[in-house]
Amino acid sequence: MNRDKRVHRRTVLQAAAGTGFFLALSPGFLLTGCDGGVRATESVTLGLDSEEYDVELALRATPDSVSILPGTPSEVWRYKAELLKGPKNTLTENTNSYLGPTIRLRRGQRVKIHIHNELPEDTTVHWHGLHVPSDVDGQPRLPIQPGETMTVGFDVWDRAGLFWYHSHAHGERGGRVGFQSYAGLAGLLIVEDDEEAGLGLPSGDNELLLVLQDRTFAGANELVYLDGGMGAMMDRMHGFLGDRILVNSVPPATRKVATRPYRIRVLNGSNARIYKLAWSDGRPVTVIGADGGLLPEPEDRPYATLAPAQRLDIWLDLSQSQPGSTLELISDSFQAGMMGGMGMMGSNALPLGSRFTLVGLEVAESLEVNEQLPAQLGQQRQRILVGSNTRIRTFELRPVMMRGFAINGRRFEGPHVADDEKVRLGDTEIWEFRNNTPMPHPMHIHGLQFNIVGRRGGNSDSLQQGLVDSGWHDTVLVMPRETVQLAMKFERFAGLFIYHCHNMEHEDAGMMRYFQVQG
Ligand code: C2O
Ligand code: CU
Ligand code: CU
Repeated sequence: MNRDKRVHRRTVLQAAAGTGFFLALSPGFLLTGCDGGVRATESVTLGLDSEEYDVELALRATPDSVSILPGTPSEVWRYKAELLKGPKNTLTENTNSYLGPTIRLRRGQRVKIHIHNELPEDTTVHWHGLHVPSDVDGQPRLPIQPGETMTVGFDVWDRAGLFWYHSHAHGERGGRVGFQSYAGLAGLLIVEDDEEAGLGLPSGDNELLLVLQDRTFAGANELVYLDGGMGAMMDRMHGFLGDRILVNSVPPATRKVATRPYRIRVLNGSNARIYKLAWSDGRPVTVIGADGGLLPEPEDRPYATLAPAQRLDIWLDLSQSQPGSTLELISDSFQAGMMGGMGMMGSNALPLGSRFTLVGLEVAESLEVNEQLPAQLGQQRQRILVGSNTRIRTFELRPVMMRGFAINGRRFEGPHVADDEKVRLGDTEIWEFRNNTPMPHPMHIHGLQFNIVGRRGGNSDSLQQGLVDSGWHDTVLVMPRETVQLAMKFERFAGLFIYHCHNMEHEDAGMMRYFQVQG
């Protein structure tokens, strides 16, 4: 079935006239959404060809209005979902939030999702970090037009971990990932499995899920993104930094906790901001997991570095805390090359590397709980084996005059791959990213989890000790002048995938490429 729907410029401008949110955007940026109007989206099921699904969801990308700050609600774009089939706890609605519902899946489930686009422009939904086939990965080559529905099906192959879903639209005149995610199109996706369940980690109310984002608001609480002029140009170059921190879509708050251990799972859902997670009383940050699930063993760090799109799993034991005391999770101050310096001056009240509070934990209840942090965590998935004969593929990150950053001299050009962007299904390779720019870049690879082999060079200084390189990852922060090697194996799915910088403004400006897994 092919229900071609065209978006006329008029439609989008009407939307613009009706909401302060759109008025706060530069017109040039707004109109890029019209590019998609001439293409057709077919309502077909991509991915699995099966009648039997364990979970079936309807997911809508839709305009809405939500209270973020006191006073007038803000216009947002957000996901809403409905459970059509599957366990009741599959969806947790985030009421009073622009974040999409938290989707809880279990390894081995077969999942079908109907995605409805109720926005005035093309969109896609990308399952960040999940090992899914190319066609259901939400790539920009398969946009969903306004008014259209796309159905995707996939098996949950991944081990337990915290993943997320967000828009990945990229029109002919540039990326829309930054805009659409900023408008609210993002949500958490949790995968559970037997190995993790066997560890008995804190769950329910004792598992805190935190999505860290930054936003800028205009006078009547309208969200402001790249609002024109010199500031917007700088923001495109450095990545957009909001002047207010939001945690789960509202300003940082204090919550009541008890004298017991907690599992704190954090997503950096910001467009460009890097966080330096630390405890206000100086206690070490006990990291138990990263993007691709639990680490082999817990690791104590003075602080933990969290780049855009990355996730961290943290163990916090409050058993010894005094009732009445409050512990804060903060983002501590740091230097980050040119991003923290000159570039941001004058244009932002909360520059990169500022210190601020993320959440306050007020110990309000005394409990006798005897839950110990297991000494061994994710032991089942063995690291990818690499040796002196493993093929090394190098990617050089370099600035392009006035146009952002390039990867091996190339910028995004749609589903087109160069010869050195073709890999073989089943192969193990080392991908080496060399950062020849003065900025850190969170490099992300679709469709798989990798191991970090090592780093050399670079001036990570005040973020270095917080880089968690063990375990499994889909996004790695490559510091200025640094070279990082990743071990990856191209398993199960042939086809086109994407790699890019997850600083969304860099990505939207073309710091993104397709690669092809040849079967
Ligand atoms: Cu989270 Cu290609 O993205
Ligand atoms: Cu991704
Ligand atoms: Cu970048």
